[in-house]
Amino acid sequence: MKLTLKIWRQKNAQDKGKMVDYQLDNVSPDMSFLEMLDVLNQDLIDKGESPIAFDHDCREGICGTCSLFINGRAHGPQTQITACQLHMRSFNDGDTIYIEPWRAKAFPVVKDLIVDRSSFDRIQQAGGFISVNTSGNTQDANAIPIEKEHADKAFDAATCIGCGACVASCKNSSAMLFVSAKVSQFALLPQGQVEATDRVLNMVKQMDEEGFGNCTNTGACEVECPKGISLENIARMNREYLKASLKG
Ligand code: SF4
Ligand code: FES
Repeated sequence: MKLTLKIWRQKNAQDKGKMVDYQLDNVSPDMSFLEMLDVLNQDLIDKGESPIAFDHDCREGICGTCSLFINGRAHGPQTQITACQLHMRSFNDGDTIYIEPWRAKAFPVVKDLIVDRSSFDRIQQAGGFISVNTSGNTQDANAIPIEKEHADKAFDAATCIGCGACVASCKNSSAMLFVSAKVSQFALLPQGQVEATDRVLNMVKQMDEEGFGNCTNTGACEVECPKGISLENIARMNREYLKASLKG
């Protein structure tokens, strides 16, 4: 395959940045999208040019670092996969592919396609931890009965990999899907009840302080989420928030 790549290049957070064109020949349809970028980077290094900075770690859809906006969609044209799970067979010979970083005030560009998502870390830290007594006789996990429906929904929420695609695809740059997944994974379980009030209030406060926008129920986040996190979690977080506010 021959491809024209239009890639966002930006030296640092202060640089204005611009799209730069690259031509790539001999791309195998079996290559992953990130392998295609590796080939391009090797070409650039061979020519003495600066390689394109992009985030990646696991390359298996687990870590959530491969934050690429491809042809105007977070993680590219396929649904429920991350950019690292995308293969070049999803494109055609002669295609032009636009590759950009996540765009959101709370995710400033570090370099080229890499953005700083430490705002997500701070939101998670604001949520704290669950109180579990691990000294002495640790309780057997199976001793606490949990309804299957709640266990399944908590597990589904816990599959959020913190990639930020929900923010990048939201016209308001809202982080509600991410935060609601993190709230829900505990709110649905008995172990999460002790700190439930502080958790939701602190996480929402931190989310607002980080500069994420509000949710206007457009649903773009759910469509582009690689893990299929449901909007139902946002409704649950709103209920948890209301409950906690009334208690406070
Ligand atoms: S909710 Fe989905 S899109 Fe948002 S951070 Fe989690 S996995 Fe990524
Ligand atoms: S590199 Fe880990 S999810 Fe893509």
